[in-house]
Amino acid sequence: MSALGSFDHRRAVVYQIYPRSFCDANGDGVGDLRGITSKLDHLQALGVDVVWLSPVYASPQDDNGYDISDYRAIAPEFGTMADFDEMLAQMHARGIRLVMDLVVNHSSDEHRWFTEARKSRDNPFHDYYLWREPRIGDDGERQPPTNWEAAFNGSVWEWNEATGEYYLHMFSRKQPDLNWENPRLRAEVYDVMRFWLDKGVDGFRMDVINMISKPWNPDGSLPDAPVVRDGFLQPGFAMSCNGPRLTEFLREMRREVLDHYDTITVGEAPLATVAEGVALTHPDTGALDMLFQFEHMDLDSIGGHVGGKWALKPLDLRDLKRTMQRWQDALDGRGWNSLYLSNHDQPRPVSRFGDDGPAHRVASAKLLGTWLHSHQGTPYIYQGEELGMRNVAFPSIDHYQDIESRNHWRTAVQERGEDPATVLRSLHAKSRDNARTPIPWDPAQPNAGFSTGTPWLALHPDSPEVNAARAVADPDSVFHHYRRLIRLRREHPVLALGHSRQWLAEHPALSAMERVWEGERWLVVCNFSGQAQPVPLPTALTGAPAELLLGNRPERRGRVDERQHGAAAIDLATLVCAPWEALIVRMG
Ligand code: NOJ
Repeated sequence: MSALGSFDHRRAVVYQIYPRSFCDANGDGVGDLRGITSKLDHLQALGVDVVWLSPVYASPQDDNGYDISDYRAIAPEFGTMADFDEMLAQMHARGIRLVMDLVVNHSSDEHRWFTEARKSRDNPFHDYYLWREPRIGDDGERQPPTNWEAAFNGSVWEWNEATGEYYLHMFSRKQPDLNWENPRLRAEVYDVMRFWLDKGVDGFRMDVINMISKPWNPDGSLPDAPVVRDGFLQPGFAMSCNGPRLTEFLREMRREVLDHYDTITVGEAPLATVAEGVALTHPDTGALDMLFQFEHMDLDSIGGHVGGKWALKPLDLRDLKRTMQRWQDALDGRGWNSLYLSNHDQPRPVSRFGDDGPAHRVASAKLLGTWLHSHQGTPYIYQGEELGMRNVAFPSIDHYQDIESRNHWRTAVQERGEDPATVLRSLHAKSRDNARTPIPWDPAQPNAGFSTGTPWLALHPDSPEVNAARAVADPDSVFHHYRRLIRLRREHPVLALGHSRQWLAEHPALSAMERVWEGERWLVVCNFSGQAQPVPLPTALTGAPAELLLGNRPERRGRVDERQHGAAAIDLATLVCAPWEALIVRMG
């Protein structure tokens, strides 16, 4: 059992910290562990139960820590193991659990396993990674074994002279994929997990966990990816997800490690379908508590997850509602959802799904939180989301630090000759750096209190207005709305556990979701538009008396708003939602 006693992950709210952008205590421009410790009161005031901490392990930082060179050490830019222990103790003292990032689909090429593995074919570590012989082309030249393109561009195959083979890397060439077919590798991973759990951490967020078993031909031969565009390289992601041994590996991990501790587990699962969601998170047979699926993240790009992230298309609210409800229906009683609109890989939700202009930024940021937290599942808040932070539009590629964004620019503009203005626009919309600008704490301090040095990535130009100090001081801020939302969820199980049902599914601007649980019946209405909208609810819903519990407009206060006086009755029959208005209503 954890130091904090037993725990129901279904009732929790999780807050994600991206350490290099959170708070810098030592003035080197990079956020660190002591910086996190200094800001735990902010998280406690918000009311979150769990922190998911993106990687802080030793790493050459090719992908900001998702390339680990020592799974048991802290990267010096983030601090020391003593800083880590202190941070963990301070979290636990506030009743906050800590979930670490477990990145074991791949390691860094600077991990000792790999520096050994690449020396010779008979090195004891060689089989920790995935190697293939070259193909010989018609011209007699060496070619990569398949046409798969890596997530960060280029081939997934990198030549290794010493062994005369290619190694596989689904991400950057400095992130070689680990060979989970090898039981010795699996045992090493389980040992790493025990190391952190024995220290007292409360669980893991597992990076691209459905890529650990590769869906390759039974004889190990590799199919080429389907050809969907000109040139040799083709989107290769699907060639590496959801292999036949995934459940087996995860059940083994549960048996060997997780069953011996009280843990929270969430697996990141690109391309996961609802069937895989059920298989992996079923309360009786699943291996994980919950999954991050990606279907709702793929609705505003032309090609979806496979290769299409940068080709923008407007979001249709009906698609978003349909996709979320499909997961709600499939996992109700048969699994568990993670609810997220943002993380360190995704743009800011207020820019993507809301309206980030001055008239509607605050209301639409509150609406998105209300809408998300009103689904069945465990909500995740990504740092800065509770401040309503927006995307950043850097003026040129030189300002971007993210490897995915920089590689995309190089491939699209320099190699394929695409229009630089169009590519820059897609970076403005989708670059991972949108989520990585440093957190502005206090505009009265240098660099808004993020760092006394030069921040590794520029602060958002909004920082004088959009910052934690101002949010905490303003009772109508996004921050206080999230705080009320979290409290409401804690006090009323219907919000976390209730069955959900959509009304007005075909309405292009309104979402109306009913939640039902043990005699409680709630309705959550959201207007995803800048126009007032009459809400045409069926009489089955409008007949009974209704009480407003939480709203996002100062002029309409609900019962959980500390400044609400008197009854909060609301007439659903005549309801007209103001622009970007969101309402949580108790019926009957
Ligand atoms: C998913 C992580 O969230 C992302 O940041 C990272 O680049 C890839 N996995 C590779 O580890």
